[in-house]
Amino acid sequence: MRIDVALVPQEIEGKSFENTTVIVIDVLRASTCIVNAITNGCDEIIPTVSVEEAMDISRAYSRDDYLLCGERKNEKIDGFDLGNSPLEFTEERIKGKKLIMTTTNGTKAIRIAKTAPCVIIGGFWNLSACCEAAARLGTNIFIICAGQNGRYAIEDAICAGGFVKRLGALTNGEIEETDGSRTARHLYETVCDSLAEALAEADHGKDLINAGFEEDVKVAARVDCVGVVPVFRDGHIVAMDDSRSA
Ligand code: MLT
Repeated sequence: MRIDVALVPQEIEGKSFENTTVIVIDVLRASTCIVNAITNGCDEIIPTVSVEEAMDISRAYSRDDYLLCGERKNEKIDGFDLGNSPLEFTEERIKGKKLIMTTTNGTKAIRIAKTAPCVIIGGFWNLSACCEAAARLGTNIFIICAGQNGRYAIEDAICAGGFVKRLGALTNGEIEETDGSRTARHLYETVCDSLAEALAEADHGKDLINAGFEEDVKVAARVDCVGVVPVFRDGHIVAMDDSRSA
């Protein structure tokens, strides 16, 4: 099983994802939000690339059925119901709702991966669950780090390295690494005992802390606190099989 990691989103351009499971990671904060929202019982999430697209899609649904969610420059978008803070996505707020979501980098990275036969959304929260699901599928794996405005984001690379490490353990070392996956794994191994600190000193971590989202940065570093595996299929993110009850 070959595991590749795109450390910057530009690497994805022109890639063919045939026979490949793609895992999209945006630790701060889109994938952590999505994992929490699916865990807390939202009906589905529709990731969009722009505010306009989110608004257009919402017109097809009755107002009680959906919530508009997402951020621009870290803040909730004007007129939207929720921002992009994982802590906002409580069961009371989102259970049974359709979430129409747009974020600066995360939802775009998910959409880019749409040609892959299976697209998983992962973060530290569901690291082991995602790795177990991907290992079961048995195909090659391509991990996409959503990054930050087209640039490398260390928190996504650290998390990708955690995925590579766990996949290696699950397959008794039967993985073929690339320079991307090897680099991510080495990075993870240097900071795995101090993930919260590593996230807080990341560029985007600092931005979020300065904007008042310190708690979001802290909670994003929790490892394996849920068993859900969100998958992106036909334009919708839902829980893989019965992973929500795991
Ligand atoms: C993104 O998709 O760019 C992020 O999740 C930004 C954030 O809300 O921290």
